[in-house]
Amino acid sequence: MNNFDFCSSTYFAFGKGKEKEVGKLVKKFGGSKVLIHYGGGSVVRSGLLDKVKTELTNMNISFIELGGVKPNPILGLVYEGVELCKKENVDFVLAVGGGSVIDSAKAIAAGAVYDGDVWDFYDKGKEVEKSLPLGTILTIAAAGSEGSGGSVITNENGMLKRSSCYDVPVAKFSIMNPELTYTVSKYQTACGAVDIMAHVFERYFTNTEDVEITDRFCEAVLLTMIKEVPVAIENPEDYGARSNIMWAGMVAHNNICGVGRGQDWASHRLEHELSGMYDVAHGAGLAVMFPAWMKYVMNHDVNRFAQFAVRVWGCKMNEENPEETAKEGIAKYEMFLKSIGMPTRFKDIDAKEEDIPAMIQKILLYCSSVGNFVKLEPEDMEKVYKLAL
Ligand code: NZQ
Ligand code: ZN
Repeated sequence: MNNFDFCSSTYFAFGKGKEKEVGKLVKKFGGSKVLIHYGGGSVVRSGLLDKVKTELTNMNISFIELGGVKPNPILGLVYEGVELCKKENVDFVLAVGGGSVIDSAKAIAAGAVYDGDVWDFYDKGKEVEKSLPLGTILTIAAAGSEGSGGSVITNENGMLKRSSCYDVPVAKFSIMNPELTYTVSKYQTACGAVDIMAHVFERYFTNTEDVEITDRFCEAVLLTMIKEVPVAIENPEDYGARSNIMWAGMVAHNNICGVGRGQDWASHRLEHELSGMYDVAHGAGLAVMFPAWMKYVMNHDVNRFAQFAVRVWGCKMNEENPEETAKEGIAKYEMFLKSIGMPTRFKDIDAKEEDIPAMIQKILLYCSSVGNFVKLEPEDMEKVYKLAL
């Protein structure tokens, strides 16, 4: 196991009715003038936005609003939010929604106290040193942004989807009521599940030795997802399934599963070009990229893939031929994706083979290779994309 530092400073308020505590929590973390940030309307339709406003008003906290965050959030709205915060002397940003809303809110919170262009944090990798405090009310289990330092924003100028990942701005608090996810569609539930599992895969496939504890954490999250996701898709109002999935989403990405081990992240880089170019849901893009990546890198460490097959997918170990076991595990993962209605090939998301060079060029604007478990050079990236055709 490698040396590591780990700080997970978010206060989590989890369970039924917890959104009622929002006013108390904003106050606890010093907010008096709040920007409520939300998406395309689900929180309006569900009545959650009105409830939040009532709770803030009851605590004598003033607020302004900025809605309209789209999935794969764009820089233009971030700029608008930054200006609004500066003009209105906002001292707290409250994200009410999914990963896109939270990521956009993180960018606004950082940009509001920065003299330069907020895109510097994404494009130039500039470290975020300070931000307005941020709180979240999560409405979909997926990206894990409620407990992570990550934020992913797309610059409409060139459709460049870039991430920033620092200790600031991590949410001061995150409210997680699984009931708020009952209205998430079957498709979005599946997309979220794929993302949660992908966050574990990026950590699980490692070259670091003696990482039994984090291997087992990863496997626990994956086994939970395999059990609970079909239940939530079948019955969207199953509280048990929704609550396990919601917490799994946080655990998968606050790095408790990834400390002390090398991590890969090639599939996420390759996927961000898909969802940047085609406006496909991040989880759907991952369902296309991950099986392809697994097939391409499997022989780098057949035993790790065989372990994955046995411990996660219940395959029987073929001692004479572990490669067969490894392949069986990947096949079972792909079958699981199909069973929850996910795409697994370019054609399923209308992605085009002729766009592969352009996607690789966009990656090469920022780095010459991707991945850590196996380092993918441009010619490897092309082969992985082609395995997903
Ligand atoms: O916009 P609204 O109307 O709210 O609808 C959303 C959106 O259409 C809907 N939704 C959310 N909660 C709902 C609901 N519909 C009904 N009932 C509810 N309770 O779901 C759709 C997807 O929402 P979105 O926030 O885009 O989903 P997700 O949480 O998957 O976030 C995706 C974004 O997060 C980034 C992705 O790249 C993508 O841009 N990621 C962020 C990470 C991070 N910050 O650490 C890591 C991830 O790997 C990922 O890259
Ligand atoms: Zn992801």
